[in-house]
Amino acid sequence: MFSYSNQDLYCEQVALADVAAQAGTPAYVYSSRSILDNYRAYDQAFGELPHQVCYAVKANSSLAVLGLLAKAGAGFDIVSGGELFRVIEAGGDPAKVVFSGVGKTPGEVEYALERGIQSFHCESEAELALIDAKAARRGVKAAFAVRVNPDVDAATHPYISTGLSQHKFGIAIAEAPAVYERAHSFQNLVASGVSCHIGSQILDATPILEAVDKVLALANALRAQGHPIRHLDLGGGLGVAYRPGEKTPGIRSFVETVQGRLREAGLTVLVEPGRSIVGAAGMLLTRVLYRKKNGDREFVIVDAAMNDLIRPSLYRAHHEIIPVRRNSLPPIVADVVGPVCETGDFLARERHMANVMPGDFLAVATAGAYGFVQSSNYNSRPRAPEILVEADRFRVVRQRESYQDLVRGESV
Ligand code: LLP
Repeated sequence: MFSYSNQDLYCEQVALADVAAQAGTPAYVYSSRSILDNYRAYDQAFGELPHQVCYAVKANSSLAVLGLLAKAGAGFDIVSGGELFRVIEAGGDPAKVVFSGVGKTPGEVEYALERGIQSFHCESEAELALIDAKAARRGVKAAFAVRVNPDVDAATHPYISTGLSQHKFGIAIAEAPAVYERAHSFQNLVASGVSCHIGSQILDATPILEAVDKVLALANALRAQGHPIRHLDLGGGLGVAYRPGEKTPGIRSFVETVQGRLREAGLTVLVEPGRSIVGAAGMLLTRVLYRKKNGDREFVIVDAAMNDLIRPSLYRAHHEIIPVRRNSLPPIVADVVGPVCETGDFLARERHMANVMPGDFLAVATAGAYGFVQSSNYNSRPRAPEILVEADRFRVVRQRESYQDLVRGESV
């Protein structure tokens, strides 16, 4: 949904130069069309197979984004009470919410029970006991799935790989049958599913399919033992192309492969995609402040920094950086850096890029997932606004923070 028309970069039918001029920079811009197309690609590729697409709220939890997806019928995967609050504020249906995460607090469990979420995805036996006790106090039965760790290697960045036995996530798949057995003694729990999630930004679907086979075998064994397992949650993790031409499995072909394996399973399949729905749907707009040379090294200093988009600093992640208006000057090789006082504050290093001048706008691509949500106020920098484009219109869906916002709740 981002493309050039003549020399100008557009999001749908909106010129990004207009957005940058009106909303200022840095600013996140999202294409509603791209988000909805990606969601529908999942939904439609499942076809007749009973399924539920639970968007992973952590990837981009803007109310406007959640609202779009809620309206399209999406469910949600949450990892905190705060995310549940956002889903409800955005008009999402709590009955389509699954609650993942290794460290749910008693308060979060109570809140989720009160709101009537669909299911808890549990990662320890102690957590099952807590949910049972809280459900008993409310006089309700809580549905749960054990998040199993299938011990497969997602072959992605070590910080976002989760499916090996050395990781903190889930319960070892070999121990899961015993855990379900013991959970029988909890009066207020119902074993409704099995879940897994092996990592993020996965570019080769093979390990996900390996995990699918393992959790399906487990679900069948549990059903044979009399557990009322109805759903299989495969997690998220499908990667997106951060570099032009980078090969990704693609939503449709991935879902079709999964669907082929689960056609006869008699289970509802859940997926929890985050990045593959919103990643390519967002860009971060920034303005060039200065150019300078230190020795041989050329720097393009921009007004967005690691507090706005931490992925390059934290994971050495690559994001394309392209001009909002193309010029015909010869390209340069430069480091694109922000104003934060850290050497680690960079958006790109030794990048072949457009020969931009102070005042020009740049767009940092594929920033719709884990962009704004991981931003901070470091260096007392107000957080950027978020802008939603719908066809030929755009609106600010989260305002730029003010200096007053920076000190809200504080006292001297
Ligand atoms: N489900 C669970 C249980 C998860 O832990 C995650 C992501 C997802 C679903 C969604 O995965 P996705 O489809 O977005 O790959 N901040 C990192 C990514 C962290 C992912 C954490 N868990 C980044 O910027 O690359």
